[in-house]
Amino acid sequence: MRTRVAIIGAGPAGLLLSRLLSLQGIENVVLENRSREYVEARIRAGILEQHTVDTLTDAGLGDRLHREGMEHHGIYLQYPGTRHKLDFPALCGRTVWVYGQTEVTKDLIKAQLDGGAPLLFEVSDVSPEDIDTDAPRVRFTDADGNRQVLECDVVAGTDGFHGVSRPLVTAGTQSRTWERTYPYAWLGILADVAPSTDELIYAWHPDGFALHSMRSPSVSRLYLQVDPHEKIEDWSDDRIWTALATRFALAGWQLQTGPITEKSVLPMRSFVSAPMRRGRLFLAGDAAHIVPPTGAKGLNLAVADVTLLGTALVRWLQEKQTDLVDSYSDRALARVWRCTHFSWFMTSMLHRSGDDFDAQLQLSQLRRVCSSEAAARELAENYTGLPLDT
Ligand code: APR
Ligand code: PHB
Repeated sequence: MRTRVAIIGAGPAGLLLSRLLSLQGIENVVLENRSREYVEARIRAGILEQHTVDTLTDAGLGDRLHREGMEHHGIYLQYPGTRHKLDFPALCGRTVWVYGQTEVTKDLIKAQLDGGAPLLFEVSDVSPEDIDTDAPRVRFTDADGNRQVLECDVVAGTDGFHGVSRPLVTAGTQSRTWERTYPYAWLGILADVAPSTDELIYAWHPDGFALHSMRSPSVSRLYLQVDPHEKIEDWSDDRIWTALATRFALAGWQLQTGPITEKSVLPMRSFVSAPMRRGRLFLAGDAAHIVPPTGAKGLNLAVADVTLLGTALVRWLQEKQTDLVDSYSDRALARVWRCTHFSWFMTSMLHRSGDDFDAQLQLSQLRRVCSSEAAARELAENYTGLPLDT
């Protein structure tokens, strides 16, 4: 088999890169080791920055997003006795959209299978080779058990945190990794109940953080800060709703409850690996970095990476210009660290550490963001997504 770009992993990063390359006439093949059903069933976050909505729309993937997604004009920050709305259009002229990553992935796969580049599910033993030469290849076993070789010009490592690509990059470069794990986790639920709020609520509470998000006018998505060792089986639906009602409590406001359809505990960490390139192998998305979900940056950072990488590869493979591919890793990492800082800032401001001095610092920071236009604008600009330097 031969193609120009071999893409490893059919998450949002790999699928969107395939789409952007195909739209520019660059042949590519996507290799995914899971089944379509598994990939489409993964529950992930659901906030899209302005540039992500623009990129998906420009790539012809905006129809269902604009039909079923919900445009949001701000968020609420809450601490005991106060719930304050940050008005994004007034603060920075941008909005965000609520549309599940699961739905984005389904739209990408549907478009891919409907005349897009080849997408091979259930492959195994994927191994990129000769990435330091100008004739790399990817060996893999296809779904029928046949060993295959995919000759290519470039390999894109969009295979997530546990993929095969990053170890190859770190093994062959002056690489560095940075990691911070947080002493708390999120217990997340999906519930068949209309959201009790028009905008997302990020709540600081002595018992711990809570987030009220949503998926549609009839499905709510909510999160609770819990100890990372918590077992989901120890959390009955009643216990979850009681904890949520306590943390969102506000005079004259009621949290609506309903049947919980999914619940899980999510670990929280920050991780960055540099560089994001080794020879003809380029990393994008979770393969190179992980952010805690408090800043809603995971998916948006993956989209930003492949928007930069797609433009750079088109310029290299069509115009033989290497300037953008040579600066890709540095330019992508600049945004990665901006988003890593913002996600750490939101996480540190809103989660209880158990230390009372921290609590007073957090409340002072929250009061500042809720009373200072400058501090509110800084948060709004980062939350809605800083412009891409494509
Ligand atoms: N061979 C083929 N596919 C692989 C391999 C492999 N060796 N290892 C992993 N994969 C696949 C996974 O099954 C997954 O479908 O690569 C894909 C990586 O997708 P994601 O983990 O979703 O990563 P990415 O596309 O970078 O999207 C990042 O996902 O985790 C969220 O918060 C994160 O929103 C962010 C987004
Ligand atoms: C979500 O809707 O799942 C969500 C929203 C905002 C976040 C994290 C997750 O910060």
